[in-house]
Amino acid sequence: MAADILVTGSCNMDLITYAPRLPLPGETIHGTRYVTGFGGKGSNQCVAAAKLGAKASMIAKVGNDAYGKEYIENFKALGIDTGHVTMTEDACTGVAPIVVGADGTNSIIIVPGANLHLTESDIDAASSLFQSAKVMLCQLEISPESTLCALRKAKGAGVFTIFNPAPAPQKELDPDFYKNSDIVCPNETEASTITGLEVTDVESAKVAVPHLLKMGCGIAIITLGKDGCVFASKEREEPCWVKGEKVNAVDTTGAGDAFAGALAFFFAKFPHLPLEEKLRRSCYVASDSVCREGTQKSYPYRRDLPEEIFA
Ligand code: RIB
Ligand code: NA
Repeated sequence: MAADILVTGSCNMDLITYAPRLPLPGETIHGTRYVTGFGGKGSNQCVAAAKLGAKASMIAKVGNDAYGKEYIENFKALGIDTGHVTMTEDACTGVAPIVVGADGTNSIIIVPGANLHLTESDIDAASSLFQSAKVMLCQLEISPESTLCALRKAKGAGVFTIFNPAPAPQKELDPDFYKNSDIVCPNETEASTITGLEVTDVESAKVAVPHLLKMGCGIAIITLGKDGCVFASKEREEPCWVKGEKVNAVDTTGAGDAFAGALAFFFAKFPHLPLEEKLRRSCYVASDSVCREGTQKSYPYRRDLPEEIFA
């Protein structure tokens, strides 16, 4: 089965506590509810694309533990190819304790565990996937070496590459990350870290986008939460704003992943749509996801969305 979309990235079990607000440092407060959910930026993006109707394959590492086994079953239930989701004895499945406040804001601690055990040889073992995929997506929740290896391999095979530099890189990335990315799509915080400019709104994003382009990617997109995104490309260097949808946010966790997964979907399945329209539709999918609790389980299926999103 030739995949539309290939994701090389993370699997985390999200351990989500709902509380009236986020606790302050040193403070103890009562939460209202606790749930676990399948998360991790890589898997979230893969699931977002698969729920929209893409054939998706995942390259990832989980621990040989209960969460790892559940994780693989979850992928299978969603029709995602798990031939290259392997288990390690050397670390636990990644976890992410998350607190969600009543206004939908969140704070997250990631413990990567098995994700850091996905190696370049695991990626080499998945060569056949790189030969057939249309789009490959990656993030920064596995080792940077493995991420760069996947980007180079995809680019070398003529696969369209989308790099979501999330969470924000701890140190400067090898310039090859950007040169091997057809799209780079950070949020405001990540864009600030990467460019050294303060990105907080549409205007500052318009200033930062050309800096991202100069780093060597084909298309630079900065996502702005409820304000949509700002983008520019080598073909159209003038930064342009795509307005967000107005919705009542319940839980914004993983909204950026819904956007990235949707973007990969539209590049793979609707390549001829203008870039601005692909972005408008991807923003729509992300906005839809914040109206429900959770990460992957809040992402819409094709049947949940208006017909015109797929026209
Ligand atoms: O982007 C949201 C994701 O970040 C969560 O699912 C959590 O696992 C963290 O990786
Ligand atoms: Na959500």
